[in-house]
Amino acid sequence: MARFVTVAKADSIQPGQLVKVEIDNFPVAVANVGGTFHAFDDTCTHEDCSLADGELVRTVVTCPCHFAEFDVRTGAVLAPPATVPLKVYPVRVQGNDLQVEF
Ligand code: FES
Repeated sequence: MARFVTVAKADSIQPGQLVKVEIDNFPVAVANVGGTFHAFDDTCTHEDCSLADGELVRTVVTCPCHFAEFDVRTGAVLAPPATVPLKVYPVRVQGNDLQVEF
């Protein structure tokens, strides 16, 4: 059953920053886009690459391996070689706790 899991302090992730967290040993990336947080699978759907090691420009994350691009809000593929969207997760902030529904 999905539940909200605290993954970080909200003020530890600055606007424009991308971090990797783990929930039940599963890698999840969290992006701060202008104060709004988005969470999605950290592993690129193309091959086994950590998107948190990639680049975040506004709402777009670029994979560091072969430069596929995804929309961090929806997981949609914006540029190949990836073809499969990323899974995204609801995020909320409680006090200063950043929580991801997983
Ligand atoms: S592993 Fe991400 S684009 Fe290839």
